[in-house]
Amino acid sequence: MTIQEQLFSLAGKTAFVSGASSGIGQHTARTLARAGARVVLAARREDKLRQTVQAMQDEGLSAWAVSLDVTQSTSIPAAWQAAQKLLDAPVDILFNCAGVLYVERFLSQGAEDIQKVFDTNLKGAFLVAQEAAKHMAERRSGAIINVASTSGVRAAGHLASYGAAKAGLLHLTSIMALELASKGIRVNALAPGNIATDMHDQFENAGLADRIRERIPQRRFGELEDLDGATLLLASDAGRYITGTVIPVDGGQLLTWM
Ligand SMILES: NC(=O)c1ccc[n+]([C@@H]2O[C@H](COP(=O)([O-])OP(=O)(O)OC[C@H]3O[C@@H](n4cnc5c(N)ncnc54)[C@H](OP(=O)(O)O)[C@@H]3O)[C@@H](O)[C@H]2O)c1
Repeated sequence: MTIQEQLFSLAGKTAFVSGASSGIGQHTARTLARAGARVVLAARREDKLRQTVQAMQDEGLSAWAVSLDVTQSTSIPAAWQAAQKLLDAPVDILFNCAGVLYVERFLSQGAEDIQKVFDTNLKGAFLVAQEAAKHMAERRSGAIINVASTSGVRAAGHLASYGAAKAGLLHLTSIMALELASKGIRVNALAPGNIATDMHDQFENAGLADRIRERIPQRRFGELEDLDGATLLLASDAGRYITGTVIPVDGGQLLTWM
């Protein structure tokens, strides 16, 4: 085994991926499994999860699905218990990825949509991370990756509630890292820029995509695979002394003025 394979291998590890029925979570579940982890995929759309798990199993990967709605507090411990049962082991890695996007000017954002964004992207992510950390703390070992966004780092128009929730998630990442380091748990965040997924189509629909692309120094939207390096770093022993950080994966977007 080369030094790279040793450092980044997830052989013998288990992972729980929330928001795994499409986009970044679906892709990352496969990435973690290809690195050797046994992976549980969680989200609301069970048909999508089942298809993904089947495709992963056909590839020889170890994958299972559990139903999860992060806005329903009883759903979170139930999903976690179900995952541990399927894995027949505790979870080592949480990829905390469930989220919804809401593209609308600040003055037009409606209370119901704002609520949904905060309930999913901040409170939901908080409760999933808390559930994970409770179990990881018992074993004094674990890695949590919160999927935030560049819009949580810097102001972006049309994303008031989304950006505020992601900023909250980034701050939560720091506090969790501080409190949980002594319990052997590392907590970090990814801040993707604009990655081509179903969610991202909303920027196309709002007529904003071309303007955004022109301002990205690399002049392209990210591909799902562009996230793999940072994810594997944070999930594996290669990142064993890294906690409380946020890694932007954004083609240089945060370097520019809006
Ligand atoms: N794409 C980008 O440019 C970008 C940039 C920065 C950050 N992000 C973040 O990356 C994450 C994934 O986004 P994506 O682009 O991959 O979008 P996506 O394809 O729409 O995926 C969103 C995932 O979240 C799940 N989800 C939504 N509400 C949920 C709930 N209440 N309970 C459980 N799961 C829920 C969805 O599954 P179900 O509908 O089946 O429940 C889906 O699997 C999000 O947190 C997003 O904010 C994306």
